[in-house]
Amino acid sequence: MRQATLHQLKVFEAVARHNSFTRAAEELFLTQPTVSMQVKQLAKAVGLPLFEQVGKRLYLTTAGKELFGTCKGLFDQLSEFESTIANLKGLKQGTLRLSVITTAKYIIPRLLGLFSQRYPGIDISLKVTNHERISERMLNNQDDIYVMSQLPSDFDLNVHPFLENPLVVLAPRSHPLVKEKNIPLKRLADELFIMREPGSGTRQAVKKLFDDHGITVKVKLDLGSNEAIKQAIAGGLGISVLSRHTLTSESMNHEIVVLDVEHFPILRHWYVVYPAGKQLSIVARTFFDYLMNEGKAIAEHTFTSII
Ligand code: PGA
Repeated sequence: MRQATLHQLKVFEAVARHNSFTRAAEELFLTQPTVSMQVKQLAKAVGLPLFEQVGKRLYLTTAGKELFGTCKGLFDQLSEFESTIANLKGLKQGTLRLSVITTAKYIIPRLLGLFSQRYPGIDISLKVTNHERISERMLNNQDDIYVMSQLPSDFDLNVHPFLENPLVVLAPRSHPLVKEKNIPLKRLADELFIMREPGSGTRQAVKKLFDDHGITVKVKLDLGSNEAIKQAIAGGLGISVLSRHTLTSESMNHEIVVLDVEHFPILRHWYVVYPAGKQLSIVARTFFDYLMNEGKAIAEHTFTSII
């Protein structure tokens, strides 16, 4: 093992975690041949194969499983060491690992601007992804902090609301309901609807409101992207319900409008989340405190100046 390098162990850990050379290569911004070569050299240093391919699936060998467990311990210790050193130096430095749900991309990058000006020694790794991937990342303890509205039910979590996340009904500016006030909810059943994809927190909240009031809407289109939905609304494909925070791109604001419908906005919250029992690093604690103490004011200022 003396010939093995830390880089090889990192590459191996990513392949083992994803069970895929391709996904590991994507995560590490390496080519697939480079990833394969690193794992091959590591296997040579170990003296035993680390993976075996059965059909199309990749499996860890017994030696691979042992090494995967060792890597996890090693990387946890290294990052603890990093934060101890930063602490000793009295500096806020190190890497902040964040994963946020799709719609939070309208909030978090804006909040990160000021944070990173204030703490230039902190590097940030930000992953914007869906609920399924976030759960996977939580399970593997891959991040310091998560931001979402819809909480996964299968984890014991520390959950802290820091900002409202109102969901509103959006329609093209030419829509006949634009000038009406307090539109009855059941009136939406006559409209063609564009919905976020199954698994989306937004979709779940919308569905719950309609189910609670016994309303079935005509879903014309499922789309996995807020931006694509806004384009579809502007293009006249139908109306939709999205977070008000998606209305940030000024170019679209004259094409789509918020309808005044009873029971809207659906009031939800953005939560800062981390697994129960997780010790936040100094860097993560600094970001947590920043979001809880200042996040709301900064976000509200940003959004009122845009919308
Ligand atoms: P999304 O919403 O999954 O629809 O992007 C965020 C959330 O509800 O957690």
